[in-house]
Amino acid sequence: LDNGVARTPPMGWNSWNTFGCNISESLIKQMADAMVSSGMRDAGYEYVVVDDCWMNSTRDSAGNLQANAQRFPSGMKALGDYLHGKGLKFGIYQAPLDKTCAQYFNSYPGATGAQGHEAQDARQFAAWGVDYLKYDWCSPSGTIDDQVRTFAKMRDALAATGRPILYSINSNSVHDKTGPRRNWGDIANIWRTTEDITNAWDTGQTNGYPMGIQNIVNVTVPLASYARPGAFNDPDMMEVGRGGMNDTEMRSHFALWAVMASPLIAGNDLRNMNAATQTILKNQNLIAINQDTLGLQATQISNDGTRRVLAKRLSNGDVAVALFNQSGATTTVSTTASAIGLTGNAFTLRDAWTNGLSTTAGAISASVPAHGTVVYRVSGGTPNPTPPATPTITATPTAT
Ligand code: DGJ
Repeated sequence: LDNGVARTPPMGWNSWNTFGCNISESLIKQMADAMVSSGMRDAGYEYVVVDDCWMNSTRDSAGNLQANAQRFPSGMKALGDYLHGKGLKFGIYQAPLDKTCAQYFNSYPGATGAQGHEAQDARQFAAWGVDYLKYDWCSPSGTIDDQVRTFAKMRDALAATGRPILYSINSNSVHDKTGPRRNWGDIANIWRTTEDITNAWDTGQTNGYPMGIQNIVNVTVPLASYARPGAFNDPDMMEVGRGGMNDTEMRSHFALWAVMASPLIAGNDLRNMNAATQTILKNQNLIAINQDTLGLQATQISNDGTRRVLAKRLSNGDVAVALFNQSGATTTVSTTASAIGLTGNAFTLRDAWTNGLSTTAGAISASVPAHGTVVYRVSGGTPNPTPPATPTITATPTAT
């Protein structure tokens, strides 16, 4: 979406993965403080997104949304001011139909979705200083065309406010999975590709609830050609630092999100991160690859079911290559400079995890542990990029 924001994938934190509906003004402020004191802000994370359950169960007499007065006693404008005062940006959640997901499925009271109030809610968000809206389809009903029309309505309402607001949509929850069925870049800045992520490597799902890291990668990799500045596939908020995976898997998760030009939205408790989690989330080599200004998502070079190679062209002519071992045992994953679109016979490889440098005449390979991903930044050749992978699309409705 060409609204001036998300020229590179957004980075930030979201409350849902760890806290669900147990959120409050003080919790969000503590997370903002931790984002600063942990060095996350300085590493590039900026949006603090308050997910579902911030609302009162009713609108006021003028139809305006209200914050839950017990848990957000100072109101959302004050929270936005607090975040802005820390050099951070303010994200909020709403749903397009009558209810939010928690109102549908988690017994959260009320029916305060935006339906019929789109312009009013957009103006309210702008007045509160909101910089990011997560807009979450939460009904099993509705066709993909209904979704396109409804998501476009809020896109236009946000534009009409004149405030730059990053627009994040999810069309997949408890619904026919419509995320991967069209290129949503005309509607939103980021769009979810799958059902919800969970804190696990592989749940065996193709696109049902809940999705593990491997399962989300399988859906999102074929959508590479959709990514561009202002418009990115969103494979969901990260599970790094949440304890359901070993360190190799967490590193792999972050590396794959980085090369897929995915939003890097942390979902862990930032107040008590161990050293491994901090090292992963603040890896400057991978953040630079993710935030590259070309805004390209890595395309698939090869996949034999065990060894998967992805390559992302970068603005200075370098190519980032991910050597991903999908199996449960250590194996060597290999490609070549020519296969990832570089000509020449002398290249430098920088290992994104160790920061170590090596040279090669063209062969690129690494011994990769089970579920691991080694990423090299390859320099020195002349770029001759391979064309992006062609996505599989089964329906292409357009916005009306
Ligand atoms: C479904 C979304 O996919 C989640 O990320 C979260 O926003 C919940 N809804 C909130 O109810």
